[in-house]
Amino acid sequence: MKQYLKHNDWQIIEEGFDPHYNRISESIFSLGNGRMGQRANFEEAYSGDTHQGTYVAGVYYPDKTRVGWWKNGYPEYFAKVLNAPAWTGIQIKIGKNELDLKKCKVSGFKRILDMKQGLLHRSFTATLPDGKKVKVDAKRFCSMADGEIGAIRYSITPINFSANATITFSVDADVVNKDSNYDEKFWNEISKEAKAGLAVVTAETKKTLFHVTTAITYAMHSAGKVVRGRVKANKKDKYADNVVTIPLKKEVETVIYKYAAILSSENHPKKKIQENAKKKLKDASLKGFDKLFSAHASVWAEIWRKCDITIEGDIAAQQGIRFNIFQLMQTYTGEDQRLNIGPKGFTGEKYGGSTYWDTEAYCLPFYLGTSDPKVGRNLLVYRHKHLQRAIENAQKLGFNKGAALYPMVTMNGEECHNEWEITFEEIHRNGAIAFAIYDYVRYTGDEKYLSEFGLEVLIGISRFWSQRITYSNAKQQYVMLGVTGPNEYENNVNNNWYTSYIACWTMEYTQHALDYVRRHDAAKFSKLMAAIKFEEKEETTRWADIRKKMYLGEDKKLGIYLQQDNFLDKELIPVKDLRHEDRPLNQKWSWDRILRSCYIKQADVLQGLYLFDDQFDNETIKRNFDFYEPLTVHESSLSPCVHVILASKIGYKEKAYEMYLRTSRLDLDDYNNDTEDGCHITSMAGTWMSVVKGFGGMRVKDGMLHFNPFIPDQWKSYSFRIEFRGHVINVKVSKTGVEMVRESGAPMQVVLNGTLTNV
Ligand code: BGC
Repeated sequence: MKQYLKHNDWQIIEEGFDPHYNRISESIFSLGNGRMGQRANFEEAYSGDTHQGTYVAGVYYPDKTRVGWWKNGYPEYFAKVLNAPAWTGIQIKIGKNELDLKKCKVSGFKRILDMKQGLLHRSFTATLPDGKKVKVDAKRFCSMADGEIGAIRYSITPINFSANATITFSVDADVVNKDSNYDEKFWNEISKEAKAGLAVVTAETKKTLFHVTTAITYAMHSAGKVVRGRVKANKKDKYADNVVTIPLKKEVETVIYKYAAILSSENHPKKKIQENAKKKLKDASLKGFDKLFSAHASVWAEIWRKCDITIEGDIAAQQGIRFNIFQLMQTYTGEDQRLNIGPKGFTGEKYGGSTYWDTEAYCLPFYLGTSDPKVGRNLLVYRHKHLQRAIENAQKLGFNKGAALYPMVTMNGEECHNEWEITFEEIHRNGAIAFAIYDYVRYTGDEKYLSEFGLEVLIGISRFWSQRITYSNAKQQYVMLGVTGPNEYENNVNNNWYTSYIACWTMEYTQHALDYVRRHDAAKFSKLMAAIKFEEKEETTRWADIRKKMYLGEDKKLGIYLQQDNFLDKELIPVKDLRHEDRPLNQKWSWDRILRSCYIKQADVLQGLYLFDDQFDNETIKRNFDFYEPLTVHESSLSPCVHVILASKIGYKEKAYEMYLRTSRLDLDDYNNDTEDGCHITSMAGTWMSVVKGFGGMRVKDGMLHFNPFIPDQWKSYSFRIEFRGHVINVKVSKTGVEMVRESGAPMQVVLNGTLTNV
């Protein structure tokens, strides 16, 4: 855990430059706008330790999987989110010396992420090796108002000298991915152009052939006048720039603006992309930094109006939740059905920018609660579009008759996971995708979704479960062998309770969906049944039989569900007794030792009790929580939020608060010692759920919102805003009670602490 960032309700603040923390800060201070984003790399050159990263949504590369022992069923490739052409570079040379914080004495360094306005702000004073001192103040943003525009305002003031400086405005497509399996570069050059006031590079990804055009221009001002300088335009392989020589005068500020247009062939025809980029760039530079920024800041103002959560009396908690909402909204804005939410968003390469079960199990509720229902629908339709691929994926593994196995990790519907041996048996992901359909329909009331897309997906998934589950003669029950539950610190176990439970639930819900669509849309029903060759009687009879005779491990004496067969044979030493030096286990222990241990990476049985909490009483939840939580290391970012929600439900207030800080400040305080790889974007939705579903106790039952709020002792009050079926309500919980105000929509009723209440 590291706590070098200052607490502030709207800003993330780093004071003083510690190069050891640079990669962590590069992740935390990342910027994005749903279409593109980047790590908080410096504009000027930096020869110290850094992880350079610029990303464009939907642009990826299928890097050939690197495994020693190839087995049938392994994915051919691992999708990599591409480190895309860098547009932020403003390299500065004064006399013979480059402005490079690694080579300068740095004082007054401050980096601020202004979350209210989506602005990255950095200031410092640097003393160059020859004693020249300069003051720098740099601001930049990725426009939320126009997802293809980025802008920088970089001011430089000489403190003790006057001299000429050369400023290089670059576009660099000669970039690498740190996670490249074969040290290969992933971009080819298509074209480049450099002339005074303009540099443009169009690059193409190998294999996937996406085009990205990055065009930049700039302007400079000093003492109220435009500075033009001597310009040299240069080109080299995958690179274009303008090098401008200007005089810097002692104590006079020169303000440099750099504008960039970043366009991808996902949104522009390849033939037109350069022309479009240049036009966009021109329009943006004519508007200028201030106008672009004010349009961008108004989008943020609207986002905060809709999504903000306020917490009074606890600034660390307040900063934490805003940081999570900020990063989430920078990553996915919900407009584009082709896009999804990568676990690291635009903050790093890890997890390849791909789609995981995280979207359905964690992100969906956030978007349902804060956005137009079409955002949640888009996330669901994304999976419907991949259904055929999921069926092919299951076929590759030996299943048939329309059984669908969604990939653990995907870009386009195909499985593309690197650590295949760990994750291929994590078939519980199929359950999360089915549950998301239920969750969406339960929340929005949009049952038509079942006829349109939902039922077809549910049948594919149920068909998979029914083939994957086998009958044990010894037990005279159905079993599910060789799976990996959400807890990845166990592989290839038998009868993982969570997976078996969600499988049975899926078959039950699919039956409900079948009945619903047959009743409400007979024509669609018959058409779909014929198209997918559904043998209703035979298939649903087997589902019902499985549900009746499924083995779900339980220890009656302890009153708990068994995470998997033989879990109780393990040496059960609670996490609190582990040595500090052994944590995090995944960085300190061998894989073999982890697998044999009792330590649980993330909620597993508890994941099931969280999703289906209306099917279990509080005593049961308590017993399982008391047994499993002490063995849980929470080394997945997805873990603490589930524990906040359950702990809140069973009245473990202190535990809920402890877990809340962990989820909301996971990256800010680098709990798992891995923030340098990027932020944990998908779990950030879990932080929102921790407040709304955890402390606020919000649930949807029978088409109504229910709340059972409590307030952590450390807080004076907290409030959140909920969109629900055309109504918007603001909920404020304080020490003295709960206030609910309807912001828009017709009067409604909610159930507050069990009592019907008008809002
Ligand atoms: C977790 C998975 C998760 C993945 C991406 C892993 O550490 O164990 O459950 O899907 O991260 O967030």
